[in-house]
Amino acid sequence: PTITFVQPTGKSDIVSVEEETSLMRAAVTNGVEGIVGECGGQAMCATCHVYVRPEFEDELPELSDDEDEMLDCTTAERTSQSRLGCQVSVGAHLDAIIVDIPTDQV
Ligand code: FES
Repeated sequence: PTITFVQPTGKSDIVSVEEETSLMRAAVTNGVEGIVGECGGQAMCATCHVYVRPEFEDELPELSDDEDEMLDCTTAERTSQSRLGCQVSVGAHLDAIIVDIPTDQV
């Protein structure tokens, strides 16, 4: 699958990843700026905050209680599009997903 990360500046990076790679891991391993992933994907840091474009909403995994709580701790404003990048993995179902990167993670 491919993922498009759009920076606050409008610049975008398109990366190709293996099935079941999380958005956080995809960004970090491909050097996409603006995603930190401090806790390594444990839903414990909120530095992998992304805004998923609304057209992909139906295919997203359900929000867990841990993720929901952590999303209240993001540096950039939480919106209805907010998710933790480490909790959303892409496969056939979210191929070509587009996410916006927040202005700040820490
Ligand atoms: Fe820490 Fe996602 S990497 S919450």
